[in-house]
Amino acid sequence: MGGNGLKKINVMLHGGDYNPDQWLKTPDILEQDMRLMKLSNCNAMSVGIFSWTSLEPEEGRYDFAWLDAVMDKLAENGLYAVLATPSGAKPAWMAQQYPEILRVERSQVRNLQGGRHNHCLTSPVYRRKTTEINTLLAERYKDHPALILWHVSNEYGGECHCPLCKQAFREWLQNKYKTLDALNDAYWTRFWSHTYTDWSQLDSPSDIGETSVHGLNLDWRRFTTDQTINFFENEIAPLKRITPDIPVTANFMGTYTGLNYQKFAKHCDVICWDSYPVWHNQRPTAELASDISFVHDLNRSLRNGQPFLLMESTPSLVNWQPINKLKRPGMHLLSSLQAVAHGSDSVQYFQWRKSRGSTEKFHGAVVDHCGHEHTRVFKDVTKVGAFLTSLAPVVGTTVKPEVAIVYDWENRWAIDDFAGFHRHKRDYEGECMRHYRYFWQQGIPVDIISMDDDFSSYKLLIAPMLYMVKPGVAERIEAFTREGGTLVSSYLSGLVDENDLCFLGGFPGPLRHVLGIWSEELDTLHDHEANALVLTENNMEYKVYTFCDLIHCETAEPLAVYRSDFYAGRPALTRNVFGKGNAYYLAARAEERFLTDFYREVDGQISLKRNIETVLPEGVTVQRRTDGRQDYLFVMNFSETKKTVKLDDNSYTDMRDGNVVSGELVLDIYGVRVLRRSIK
Ligand code: GLA
Ligand code: ZN
Repeated sequence: MGGNGLKKINVMLHGGDYNPDQWLKTPDILEQDMRLMKLSNCNAMSVGIFSWTSLEPEEGRYDFAWLDAVMDKLAENGLYAVLATPSGAKPAWMAQQYPEILRVERSQVRNLQGGRHNHCLTSPVYRRKTTEINTLLAERYKDHPALILWHVSNEYGGECHCPLCKQAFREWLQNKYKTLDALNDAYWTRFWSHTYTDWSQLDSPSDIGETSVHGLNLDWRRFTTDQTINFFENEIAPLKRITPDIPVTANFMGTYTGLNYQKFAKHCDVICWDSYPVWHNQRPTAELASDISFVHDLNRSLRNGQPFLLMESTPSLVNWQPINKLKRPGMHLLSSLQAVAHGSDSVQYFQWRKSRGSTEKFHGAVVDHCGHEHTRVFKDVTKVGAFLTSLAPVVGTTVKPEVAIVYDWENRWAIDDFAGFHRHKRDYEGECMRHYRYFWQQGIPVDIISMDDDFSSYKLLIAPMLYMVKPGVAERIEAFTREGGTLVSSYLSGLVDENDLCFLGGFPGPLRHVLGIWSEELDTLHDHEANALVLTENNMEYKVYTFCDLIHCETAEPLAVYRSDFYAGRPALTRNVFGKGNAYYLAARAEERFLTDFYREVDGQISLKRNIETVLPEGVTVQRRTDGRQDYLFVMNFSETKKTVKLDDNSYTDMRDGNVVSGELVLDIYGVRVLRRSIK
């Protein structure tokens, strides 16, 4: 039994989005599918994702026969079904009959029927229709042997500005603030005379209306998350009632900003996400790999280390980039196992078979238009499947890192929204990812958490650009540091509260005490400009750019100073001894070479554990999962040259062939090995 929320399953899932309803007129293709699925070592298919019109061709007339046959075939062939609810695309007949289900965009224009992922979040009609079809699905398949997981809708996203949603927003606000006076205070509405004197005046943010009230913008995003969760809860009510033992999931989209996944995750039994890295394009492979690892870690951290599922990935290429490159030999296995290395208990694809028409006909798939197995991609997929079979013992295992990076959704919203400083280079996500890279390259595991998560189990807490500090967070950061933790903070921290109101009395607001500094002004640099920070200890210089915070040391000591401009000589990096711990403040955005050297120093002081005690060659990382008795080590080469890893003197077994491995491990270009080690 795994710890991933999938009670029935103790193997890695391998498969993907399967759309048999597109092929009902060619039964021979459906027969071929079963043969090819087994041949490619697939064991799990997501069905019914966009099947509403096939299930309910007209209102109240249902056709489940085709799905019955598919579910039965899957079971007969030993394949699991991840059964979807169809709300991700609404039928044309429904939109025609009930126009209220059509979404109104931010422009205040109501959509016509078409596309997908564009229904109203509030419409009672759509909710009722969803309940009806979900109830029928659950009743029909509740005892079906293939059913293991509910795939609820597809990639929830976007927002609706229709009258129903606006009314729900007003009620949400009324419930939150109780009085208009409290709301006006939180929104600082005397500014530009924006005071609300009646609840009915409150509107959703729009480019033809209100965008300047930042508290309102934040609340609208919070409301959209809550309303989406509420829609999801409505969807799962019949599933939970009829199939209480079948977990539910909703496929997330990485760091998509439209929904606060850190909140949404609490409502899902299983976390899953759709990962589409753009390999072999402009960026160095290792750099992109590190960023993708960050997002995998984020997904594992959403439910406190619970393994997640890779619900979609492409076996070859996508069709929505300006230029869509194929995965080079080796990359498919490597990038698939990368997800597993960070906590995925599956490798699922979009899509099983290429559709014949419409917009995704040239998107990668396991089975191409040629229809047979004699393709490079099919062979790659088959190889991944075989590898995953050998990783069954890894299912349900996780990792407990000593390092956490705070990447917080609400903070991201607030950073993206403010006016000032640098308009285009805030790049909160990118900055968090740059802080992550040292640990990735050293093979040191990291959690990616929100500011509301518990910090106490970590040795090192990194919170770059913590612009918004919600109530209680500074106190928890202080407690963490006082107890001996190491804190790393940066410029653009401690500026505003949860309503995006500035802290008075000096930045970094509630973090001032733990950091021992006062930030007086923030300078913003043009792209062609740079400054440098100079370490006081050895005069080493590192480039700093975009943001330079002009700070004063209060109880902190300067470790580096600015080299030039009118603030030359003023502190650029500080350390504050706080209780049993240390709090660092990096005042400027620094080149990556600095982050590497800085974290090497910090790491040396607090002795972080590596997954394998060795120095890894560039572009190679090691990630670990553990069940407390065995460690599973994923050694991965994200570079375009062969690499050799010197193992420590533990004894290792290769998971794929059971051979004992010691001494040196040679990795091909994009090579990957999974090793097992007993915990002493
Ligand atoms: C998303 C969707 C899929 C498909 C893929 C294509 O992840 O969920 O239905 O459109 O993108 O990459
Ligand atoms: Zn709506």
